[in-house]
Amino acid sequence: MTTLSALKRMKQDGTPIAVLTAYDAAFARLCGEAGCDVLLVGDSLGMVVQGHRSTLPVTLEQMVYHTEMVARGNTADCWLVVDIPFMADATVEQGLASAQALVQAGADMVKLEGGERVLPLVERLAALGVPVCGHLGLLPQSVLRHGYRNVTPAEALLAEARALEAAGAEMLVLECVPAETARQIAQAVAMPVIGIGSGPHVDGQVLVLHDVLGISERAPSFSRNFMAEAGDIPAALAAYVEAVRTGEFPDEDS
Ligand code: KIV
Repeated sequence: MTTLSALKRMKQDGTPIAVLTAYDAAFARLCGEAGCDVLLVGDSLGMVVQGHRSTLPVTLEQMVYHTEMVARGNTADCWLVVDIPFMADATVEQGLASAQALVQAGADMVKLEGGERVLPLVERLAALGVPVCGHLGLLPQSVLRHGYRNVTPAEALLAEARALEAAGAEMLVLECVPAETARQIAQAVAMPVIGIGSGPHVDGQVLVLHDVLGISERAPSFSRNFMAEAGDIPAALAAYVEAVRTGEFPDEDS
């Protein structure tokens, strides 16, 4: 069983945290058996499962449905993080109701995209005892405004990370943040910082399951197909966990 305290200890000990997205019971079980510490029911399911061009069409009801499936398959008791989807946190009250639905479906922690905008909701959730994960850098839910890239300068990212932690966030995902900035953020905050396309100097790594298995239509350049050299899915997932744990993945350029 992985707890938030265990994840914080892993950061302190310098043990890299292995995270994968999972969208159903079968893969939740396999990811847990492979040794993952954290499962993320990401709204990336809109793209890799539903076939949309972005995460924007994903609804709260769909996130609840997938969370229930993943929670049932989470036999290894990985820490279970779930995305609040596009516009389901448009107001604080709406965000609270969305978090309630996701926690009641089995989430251990909810993830919110953005910096200053989400601070009031992070504060309310933390006060209510709901663990919160922030998400900075490339924000897929802001694709219409910014595209698929990080547009926030290093100084602002650092300030946003500190503000999220001060508001009560207990984990942070950094997506496509320059490696040196990600390193500075991971050093500046006490919460575990999980990177995706943000270099090796953070506290853990997350990849989208379909990219790891080599079955995505378009995988980002920073990801790796672990299926290519593994004989089967369990071996590919175990190879990913091992590569994260030993620091072999990602390299400086990922
Ligand atoms: O939705 C998702 O899968 C995510 C990861 C890319 C971090 O947010």
